[in-house]
Amino acid sequence: MNAESLLQAALAAREHAVAPFSHYKVGAALECGNGKIYGGCNVENATYGLTVCAERVALWKALSEGEREFIRVAVASQGSQPAPPCGACRQLLWEFGGNLEVILGNTAGYREIHHLADLLPHPFDRGMLNK
Ligand code: THU
Repeated sequence: MNAESLLQAALAAREHAVAPFSHYKVGAALECGNGKIYGGCNVENATYGLTVCAERVALWKALSEGEREFIRVAVASQGSQPAPPCGACRQLLWEFGGNLEVILGNTAGYREIHHLADLLPHPFDRGMLNK
């Protein structure tokens, strides 16, 4: 799947965002090594702190279906600038996906592509634990 198609999948997932508190809707689409795509959206709640980002929802969905190999993630948001993954999501995407391609886009048509190693330099991971 090309980058734009994956971003379109993230935009579609974003339509399901549960964001009654921030009104900031985010969608993610995670491409697996076998070509399968898992979507996710942010899910907020009244305690605020238990909110889960779109990227993590997509990652949990994929992992819980047995996926272990990941290639790319697209993140779709609103506003004038696309949302880069938060620090917690960068850490988890790195631990499970390594140096993923990260496609960022928004509803206004903005697009940019990064690699996770550039967004999370000098990471802590299982290599530090000799695992
Ligand atoms: N959010 C995401 O889902 N992904 C990001 O990369 C950044 C932030 C969500 C969390 C919260 O529901 C809302 O955006 C505002 O922070």
